[in-house]
Amino acid sequence: MPLIQWNDRLSIGIDSIDKQHKVLINLLNKLNDAIAEGNANLVLAQIFDGLSAYTIKHFAYEEGLFKKYGYRGTEAHKHEHAELIRQVKNLRQKMDEGDSMVNVEVLDFLKEWLTYHILVSDKDFAPFLIEQGVT
Ligand SMILES: [Fe+2]
Ligand SMILES: [Fe+2]
Repeated sequence: MPLIQWNDRLSIGIDSIDKQHKVLINLLNKLNDAIAEGNANLVLAQIFDGLSAYTIKHFAYEEGLFKKYGYRGTEAHKHEHAELIRQVKNLRQKMDEGDSMVNVEVLDFLKEWLTYHILVSDKDFAPFLIEQGVT
């Protein structure tokens, strides 16, 4: 069972960003599967690192568009991104320290965060960027 199933409600109407969100959801589902299968911490850490690296890339893509088109909500949105990166680094450190609660915590946290961020924060900039012709 995937942790998050893509559905049209998650689409923000910008193809390039929807595609990246799908990759993020796939990576999170992969992490969920790996945990369910009882994979070793090393394997989980590798998947987690792949997810966080892609997240950083994705945030940079969105922020690049904000800068290019002068999105008014840039500061607040960048702040949310920075906060997630901070928390991801924290979780990663806890994983290194062998905290066994961290796996469930990671999944719950990322699932809630990703869904909320897409549905609320990313949907907030979508109409503006669509108006600028971003696809
Ligand atoms: Fe975002
Ligand atoms: Fe996003």
